[in-house]
Amino acid sequence: MATLKAVRGTRDLLPPETALWNRIEATARALFARYNFGEIRTPVFEDTSLFARGVGEETDIVSKEMYTWEDRARAQSEKPQSLTLRPENTAGVVRAYIEHKLGETGQLQKLYYIGPQFRRERPQKGRYRQFSQIGAEVIGPPSAGSESPLRDAEVLEMLATLLDELGITGWSLEINSVGSAADRARYNETLREALIPLAPKMCGDCQRRAVTNPLRVLDCKVPEDQPIIESLPKIVDSLDEESKAHFAAVMAALDAAGVHYTRNHRLVRGLDYYTRTTFEFIHGGLGAQNALLGGGRYDGLSEAIGGPKAPGIGFAMGEDRLVLTLQTLNQGATPSQVDAYIAPLGEALNPAALALARELRRAGLSVELGDGSFRLKKSFEAADRASRRIVILGEDELQSGILTVKDFTTGIQTKVPRVELAAYLSLPAHA
Ligand code: HAM
Repeated sequence: MATLKAVRGTRDLLPPETALWNRIEATARALFARYNFGEIRTPVFEDTSLFARGVGEETDIVSKEMYTWEDRARAQSEKPQSLTLRPENTAGVVRAYIEHKLGETGQLQKLYYIGPQFRRERPQKGRYRQFSQIGAEVIGPPSAGSESPLRDAEVLEMLATLLDELGITGWSLEINSVGSAADRARYNETLREALIPLAPKMCGDCQRRAVTNPLRVLDCKVPEDQPIIESLPKIVDSLDEESKAHFAAVMAALDAAGVHYTRNHRLVRGLDYYTRTTFEFIHGGLGAQNALLGGGRYDGLSEAIGGPKAPGIGFAMGEDRLVLTLQTLNQGATPSQVDAYIAPLGEALNPAALALARELRRAGLSVELGDGSFRLKKSFEAADRASRRIVILGEDELQSGILTVKDFTTGIQTKVPRVELAAYLSLPAHA
C-alpha cells in the first residue's frame, strides 16, 4: 500500500523547530501587549463572497488560489453554501468588526491574530499552501482617529521593533502610497492607456493584466519586462493633495522615530482593498519569496463588505518566512535539555522512579524518566543526550533517601538527600 504523506504544499512542524515557532509567537504576543493590542480568533473558513468582495474578484488570490467548496445542506433548514478556507485574515477581522458592531464602541480596535492561511500557490522555498501568519489590524470609526497617519507610522515602528526583538537583522522596509480609491481608479486608467501600445511586447500575464487589472503589471518579475514597467507613469503622480499630505505625514513620523525605509513606487500589493499607505518588509536571505511581511491601509474595506465607514491599517507576517530567516541567520532551534534524567536500577524501581519524577516535576523541574529495564550504560547514554544531570535511583538510594547525581557538564558525581534534590537540580552546573 502506498504510504500517505502530507499534502503537497503542507508540512509537519516537529521539535526542536516548533520551539522556535513558539519563541516567535511568545515574542509577538508580548510585544502586542505592550502596544495595547488584543487577540482576535476568527474561523478558518468563511463564506466565499467575503473574499470575493473584500480581497477582490480580479486578484490572483481570489481568481486562482482559494480552496473553495460547495457545502451541502444537511437539513431542510440549511441552504447549500460556497465556503472558502481563508487565504488571509484581514477580511475575516473586518467581517467580525462589522458583525459584533465594534464600531459602536467609538474606540479604535487594535486586534492581532496568529494562525493558518491557505492559498493554492505553486510551492517553493518560503511559499506553502498552508502557511501561518502573525498579523494585526487597527480599525475604527474616523472619529477614533483611524485615518491618522500616526497610526500607519506606529504600526511600522512596532514592526521594526518586533523584527529587532526577534533577532532578525538585515531587513529593509519599503513603502508606497496607492492613494484613495479615486486616485487608484484614476491611476489604473492612466496605466491602462499607457499599456495599450506596450502590452503586446510584454509577457502573457502582463498582456492579460493590462486589460483586467493594469495595476498588477507593476508586480511582474519577468526581466525583459522591467525596462517597460520602469517607463510607465508612477502612482505618486496620480495622488490627490490629501493622499500626498497623508503619505508625507507618515514619512515624517517614521523619520522622527528613526525608522529607516525606502520608497518603492511599484509597491501596489496583490489585494484590492489597499488605499494610501502600502508596505513590505523584505529580507535578502529568503530568495525569490523575499517578503517577510506586507500590509497597508484599507479605508474602504468595511463598506465594500456591507459595513459602516471604518478606515484601518494592518499587516501580516509570514511566520514560516520568519523561521526560515532566523535559521539562515543561525538562530534556529537546538534540541532542549531537561534538568534531570531519572535512571531506576531495575524494573522493580520503576514505580518509585515515577513517584520521584512527579515530585521533581511538581517542584518545577523538567525531567525525563528512564526505564529500569535499561542497562546502566544505556541509561547513561540516553541521559547524556537529553539532560544535564542523571539521578540514579537504586534500592539503596530508595531506602537511605540519599540519591546519586552525576553532572555531565563537570563529570562530578555526588550524593544528595532527597529533600534537597529539587533545589540542587535547579542550580546551574556545579564546579
Ligand atoms: P500578503 O502580502 O498576501 O498580505 O501576505 C502577508 C505575508 O504572508 C507575506 O508577506 C508572506 O510573508 C506571507 N505569505 C503569503 N503567502 C504565503 C505563502 N503561500 N507561503 C508562506 N507565506 C506566505 C495579506 O495577507 C494581508 N492580509 C496583510 C494585511 C493585513 N494587510 C492589511 N492588514
